[in-house]
Amino acid sequence: MNRKFANVQTELPGPKAKGLLDRRHGIVPRGVGYGIPTFVESAKGALLKDVDGNQFIDFAGAIGTINVGHSHDTVTAALHDQVDRYIHTGFNVMMYDPYIEFAEKVAELAPGHFKKKVMFLNSGAEAVENAVKIARKYTGRQAVVSFSGGFHGRTLMGMSLTGKVKPYKYEYGPFAPEVYHAPFPYNYRRPESMSEEEYTAFLLKQVEDFFISEVDPSLVAAFIMEPVQGESGFIVPDKAFVQGVYELCKQNGILFIADEIQTGFGRTGKYFAMEHYGVAPDLITISKSMSAGLPISGVIGREEVMDNASPGELGGTYCGSPLGCRAGIAVLEIMEKENINERAQIIGQRVMERFKEMYDRFDVIGDYRGLGAMCALEFVEDRETKKPAKELSSQILQEAHKRGTIALKAGVYDNVIRLLMPLVITDEQLDEGLDILEEAMEAVLVGAQS
Ligand SMILES: Cc1ncc(COP(=O)(O)O)c(C=O)c1O
Repeated sequence: MNRKFANVQTELPGPKAKGLLDRRHGIVPRGVGYGIPTFVESAKGALLKDVDGNQFIDFAGAIGTINVGHSHDTVTAALHDQVDRYIHTGFNVMMYDPYIEFAEKVAELAPGHFKKKVMFLNSGAEAVENAVKIARKYTGRQAVVSFSGGFHGRTLMGMSLTGKVKPYKYEYGPFAPEVYHAPFPYNYRRPESMSEEEYTAFLLKQVEDFFISEVDPSLVAAFIMEPVQGESGFIVPDKAFVQGVYELCKQNGILFIADEIQTGFGRTGKYFAMEHYGVAPDLITISKSMSAGLPISGVIGREEVMDNASPGELGGTYCGSPLGCRAGIAVLEIMEKENINERAQIIGQRVMERFKEMYDRFDVIGDYRGLGAMCALEFVEDRETKKPAKELSSQILQEAHKRGTIALKAGVYDNVIRLLMPLVITDEQLDEGLDILEEAMEAVLVGAQS
């Protein structure tokens, strides 16, 4: 196949990467995983170059962190400017205006016609921790409910809220108390006898019954939900389910937290994926693509909820760093100027068209799904039994990597390939990356050489 962008000339790892990989194994623990056995030399837009000169089309975007592309000029200019002014004074010590400007801007964009306040942190898991703290303080209640299959990070509270055991929780207990898990819809795997509507109604009833069997609603501070489950394989819930849970929260004085860490900032074609469901969460956690790769996260919430904590109870040494805030302001500028939300919708349509063609060709694809540019393929041994094909999806990914498209796995059963490409990817790059993915399937399934 004729390739313009992907160019892999060595085995993976190539000779330089091999040297680094050996050193990595000598010093970095195994528990810190990696997706592809090579090391980056440079990155721009949707392309990555490794230390051996191989070039890849990036469909992983640092796990959904790079919606505006690698090293966008607007971001790098803002960062250079910031480095020359000051790097860190600690917002809890001497404050700086980029924090205020970024907070005002994200509050303005977040769903809900009510006054909001915003605080910044460092990582996604830390935003989740703080959203829970804030919800407990405001409600005076302890219990928190998350959903089966949900992922909320690797800290104690993040792990406790996460609804998938391996690899996130296994042998890492005991977990934080007063965390409960409610069922989440997985339409592809719903009982055959049920329509989507019946299934949603059934699950909502289970959430209501949950208040009898698991925890009394008067003790629940918050529900936390991903608008599209990310790590669990891009599972998109029905609008009626999201709205139903939101209503249950309202009826019982429970706060609704949307974890938009993977879904936010354009990925689904909106600034916030909750906009698709017509729900205005009381609290929203954000991170990843909010700052094009700088380690920063945040909690956005109703003013009265956010303001309940007393001075000193929230924050941390590095929280809301000047560099993270400057990068974030640049991201919002790019999103507006380059119509990133619209672009996400176009990319999503294109990907879904290609997924449909692949589905028609390969019957190991059990399902293809997505919201905006958050699209995934679920692999099965056969479409009747829907038995997850975990190994097969790994092999396909490896073949794709060898050919120059980098993507990631996901899934409750670890049998999903998900795409999180930068949304500044060109049509040509997108098509080439998808061609390579299809060719990788061909190579594994038909054994075709290329
Ligand atoms: C929905 C969601 N919540 C929380 C997290 C945790 O974020 P971090 O890895 O920055 O701690 C992630 C990371 O993938 C996520 O996707």
